[in-house]
Amino acid sequence: MPTILVPTECAPGETRVAAVPETVRRMVKLGHTVLVESGAGAKASISDAQYTEAGATIEKDPVAAYKKADVVLKINPPQHHEGVGKFEADLLKEGTLLVSFLWPFQNEETVKALAARKVITFAMDRVPRITRAQAMDALSSQSNLAGYKAVIIAAEKLPKIFPLMMTAAGTIKPAKVVIMGAGVAGLQAIATAKRLGAVVEVSDVRPAVKEQVESLGGKFIEIETDESMQDAGGYAKEATPEFLKKQQELVRKHIVEADVVITTALIPGKPAPKLVTEDMVQEMHDGSVIVDLATATGGNCELSKDNETVVAHGVIIVGDSNLPGSVPQHASEMYAKNVLNVVEHFHDKEGNRKVDFEDEITAGSVVTCDGQIRIPELAGSPDPTPAPAPAPAPEGGNA
Ligand code: NAI
Repeated sequence: MPTILVPTECAPGETRVAAVPETVRRMVKLGHTVLVESGAGAKASISDAQYTEAGATIEKDPVAAYKKADVVLKINPPQHHEGVGKFEADLLKEGTLLVSFLWPFQNEETVKALAARKVITFAMDRVPRITRAQAMDALSSQSNLAGYKAVIIAAEKLPKIFPLMMTAAGTIKPAKVVIMGAGVAGLQAIATAKRLGAVVEVSDVRPAVKEQVESLGGKFIEIETDESMQDAGGYAKEATPEFLKKQQELVRKHIVEADVVITTALIPGKPAPKLVTEDMVQEMHDGSVIVDLATATGGNCELSKDNETVVAHGVIIVGDSNLPGSVPQHASEMYAKNVLNVVEHFHDKEGNRKVDFEDEITAGSVVTCDGQIRIPELAGSPDPTPAPAPAPAPEGGNA
């Protein structure tokens, strides 16, 4: 039976952990040996004692722990490990199954290093959006939390309340919230803003989402276009400059009148489209709030900065690409369930590993295996030398 390691995340600012006591209990019940690095759950309010009680063994020395591990469960792509002064990829032994977010196009050197070490890397950010893979879909589980938290942050920063209030002291109009992008994060933001009593308007390039927006009580801002804006995988395609201009003109009046703008618009593998321009921000009321969830890939607002809150033209602009990390307990719980399903996907009842590239989930998500890089655009010429530790990886927007 394989040994599974849950290390402490060493990416700056990371608060989440890839296994929680409930998932440890399940892995132990399946017969796996589970090692948890001491303190791995501390920032998510999970103590070593809780992991021990669930059947895990606590490991104090990460280097020794990596040597024992057949499977490593992580949140972030391998980083430079300050504590041991090494790149995490170099701690993995040959043949280890690594389950983690990877963002391979932003982390080419890491991908090469993992291939050189003959690691099987399952990238959580490449799980196909198919029904069978929903239980492994960490992009969705984390985006749901990001959409919720974006609204809570906006409500906290706004110098107004969200709901309509009719009192003897007068009537307060409901806040107006505009949401750009109605994917998983956007839809959760609509539901949360509606629950708080706001009036919600929504823009998306995929006309297919209109019905979902309306079923949550949002008003859909339609953009007439002949262009088909959705690819075969259900994702948005990159818009032409003409389309973006038309969209900006149409949404402009909604944005400048909004109390809160939440942007979640992403195009897979491309920079985020710029939807809120500086002159729109200039026209917004003082005290209005923009929460930009797309800052890891450049941001949807021209003035937002990744992981910073700035005030520009009287508008508070929050750029945060790791909002799930602000609710680490639930974010870890959901992510841990996603990776538990990956562990079960890769092992039979006896604990034998099965890597079947006929399977759509395995084929879509495994980036390195047997020394090979399985993404043709990244495969290039093999690099036998160990790659240097890369800069911290973006969290992939909402993830
Ligand atoms: P995403 O995070 O890639 O993008 C967020 C949203 O931004 C998308 O709705 C996209 O259309 C929108 N967008 C892109 N450019 C825009 C622009 N210029 N203006 C306004 N909006 C813009 O999307 P996410 O949340 O990852 O979902 C992608 C698709 O996958 C959706 O159709 C979703 O319903 C589907 N999905 C399917 C699942 C399944 O069947 N297992 C699971 C999760 C999502």
